[in-house]
Amino acid sequence: MRAALYVSLRASLTAVLVRGVLAAAQSSSLSLPSELYSSSIGSKILAIANKEPAPPTYPQYTDRSQGTWQYFNPNTTWTTGFFPATLYAMHTRQTLCPSENDNTDWVTLGRSWSTGIIPFETHNGLEHDVGFVSFPFQEELQINPQNSTAITAVENFANDLAARFSPIVGCTRSWDTSDPTNFEVIIDNMMNLEVLFQAASLNNNDTLRQIAISHADKTMTNHVRPDGSSFHVVEYNSTTGQVIARITSQGFADNSTWSRGQAWGIYGFATMYQNTNLSRYLDTSREMATYFLNNMPSDGIVPWDFNAPLNPPRPADTSAATIAATGLLLLSRLEQSLSPPNTTGSNLWTNFAAQLLTSTAQLAWKPDWQSLLSNGTVNNRANPPNNLTGIVYGDYYFVKAGNDLVQMGLAQCNSSNASTTTASSSTHTSTSHASKSTSSGCLRLPLLTIACLLALLTSLRL
Ligand SMILES: *[C@@H]1O[C@H](CO)[C@@H](O)[C@H](O)[C@H]1NC(C)=O
Ligand SMILES: *[C@@H]1O[C@H](CO)[C@@H](O)[C@H](O)[C@H]1NC(C)=O
Ligand SMILES: *[C@@H]1O[C@H](CO)[C@@H](O)[C@H](O)[C@H]1NC(C)=O
Ligand SMILES: *[C@@H]1O[C@H](CO)[C@@H](O)[C@H](O)[C@H]1NC(C)=O
Ligand SMILES: *[C@@H]1O[C@H](CO)[C@@H](O)[C@H](O)[C@H]1NC(C)=O
Ligand SMILES: *[C@@H]1O[C@H](CO)[C@@H](O)[C@H](O)[C@H]1NC(C)=O
Ligand SMILES: *[C@@H]1O[C@H](CO)[C@@H](O)[C@H](O)[C@H]1NC(C)=O
Ligand SMILES: *[C@@H]1O[C@H](CO)[C@@H](O)[C@H](O)[C@H]1NC(C)=O
Ligand SMILES: *[C@@H]1O[C@H](CO)[C@@H](O)[C@H](O)[C@H]1NC(C)=O
Ligand SMILES: *[C@@H]1O[C@H](CO)[C@@H](O)[C@H](O)[C@H]1NC(C)=O
Ligand SMILES: *[C@@H]1O[C@H](CO)[C@@H](O)[C@H](O)[C@H]1NC(C)=O
Repeated sequence: MRAALYVSLRASLTAVLVRGVLAAAQSSSLSLPSELYSSSIGSKILAIANKEPAPPTYPQYTDRSQGTWQYFNPNTTWTTGFFPATLYAMHTRQTLCPSENDNTDWVTLGRSWSTGIIPFETHNGLEHDVGFVSFPFQEELQINPQNSTAITAVENFANDLAARFSPIVGCTRSWDTSDPTNFEVIIDNMMNLEVLFQAASLNNNDTLRQIAISHADKTMTNHVRPDGSSFHVVEYNSTTGQVIARITSQGFADNSTWSRGQAWGIYGFATMYQNTNLSRYLDTSREMATYFLNNMPSDGIVPWDFNAPLNPPRPADTSAATIAATGLLLLSRLEQSLSPPNTTGSNLWTNFAAQLLTSTAQLAWKPDWQSLLSNGTVNNRANPPNNLTGIVYGDYYFVKAGNDLVQMGLAQCNSSNASTTTASSSTHTSTSHASKSTSSGCLRLPLLTIACLLALLTSLRL
């Protein structure tokens, strides 16, 4: 019923959305979950970091009941880079939050955990995911731009991805297939394009930039539907360049919208705009973010697929929520970087990100688990389905979102503690992104906020 209503409102929703929601957003302060800055984040991550396996394997997801990390071979696992990248993110947090008395040497831990990835720079089983695996080396270059090991790693991973580019198709190949003329591209691949820009900034090889732009343009045309939703997989014929099929691998159905793919799209197109200033990418990120917002259920919890049946209850995917939130914070900064700054757009995305983080912390903050969060869905189409776990990238983007909010001047590291979820309160005061007075009861109750926003949209529309 709600879904049908919002589908029917779709045509005029964007305009209404921006006017209606922004009226509310501008008169509120940002409500964030205290868990974002909990001291247990550092202690949990440190405990795992101190147990570096030899030979190196990397945490990807937890079991479903105890929350114990499961470890995987770095040569074949796309998530290998996220734990080392989390260690670098903790270093960033330490520099942002000097009053937190954290004396951990996160950079040494990040470097140590990166070392196991180096053998896979050129010959690996990572396919397009070399971009994700390069994250810790990109982080290293923020700290030491002269580190030649990290420079070489970023360049090698970028060349590896570039070697998967087909000029006929116009994309980098995501997955290898038994029939090489079946050229599969997944929406997730948008997130792997950043390494091409990073390498191009090191060696000024413009071919790398052009490959990223071509891939993004094809994805914009063939993965993103007119309503801003997305297909997971597009199959091209590598001989003709034609689209053969639009299907799913991890979503509910070929024509459904897998929420993590949608989140990668929001973030990936925002990153493309950041790297090119081409407005079509900003528009695509906005459209995908608008779809995400419009299709949120009233409980504010991101389901693993927006079109999965409600019965039995849909498992959440908190990784989709934290990826989307971090992507929305980037989108918010990009709106703010426009000339003149789009403060209304910026506030819209920041508020939505804060709501996602709040509902995620309320549902899934797990003090007893090794992971920070539970209720991630790795792959609900696996046999058996792999849902309701901790996930390493869900945790990574939770930490990164917390950092980004501090960097944006929207949160303080110590303005709250981890004891409760209901008194979520790292409330910032006036900044360019939001102002102080809270006039709406809706906006003081984080759990209800999305329902309130949807109600507001409906009332404006009807
Ligand atoms: C350079 O980075 C690599 C990989 O991130 C790391 O293993 C190494 O310790 C770093 N070297 C220096 C001198 O910082
Ligand atoms: C990693 O996997 C690739 C592809 O299977 C293989 O060619 C390469 O030798 C492996 N590298 C190592 C260091 O095991
Ligand atoms: C630029 O990158 C492409 C793709 O990796 C590579 O084929 C080409 O040789 C590079 N050009 C130079 C001048 O290094
Ligand atoms: C791609 O097109 C070629 C030439 O028409 C054909 O031989 C091949 O079977 C096609 N591959 C797929 C996967 O459709
Ligand atoms: C997907 O296709 C099925 C079967 O045609 C249809 O019932 C369903 O409504 C479609 N879902 C979406 C999201 O378009
Ligand atoms: C995009 O435009 C901004 C503002 O003019 C500028 O600061 C930035 O360097 C540009 N970025 C790129 C990748 O061209
Ligand atoms: C979240 O996970 C718990 C178990 O860890 C489960 O009982 C609950 O149903 C899950 N909720 C959602 C919305 O996924
Ligand atoms: C501001 O941002 C909103 C949300 O992305 C967008 O709909 C609107 O067109 C933007 N306005 C301008 C002037 O760019
Ligand atoms: C979640 O995963 C469990 C364990 O594999 C499976 O039994 C269950 O059917 C899945 N839930 C849904 C709604 O798909
Ligand atoms: C809280 O952290 C901020 C930096 O985020 C720092 O400036 C401030 O002094 C800290 N306040 C307390 C009470 O520790
Ligand atoms: C959180 O803050 C409240 C009020 O400042 C304090 O009473 C409580 O002990 C703190 N809890 C933790 C776990 O630090």
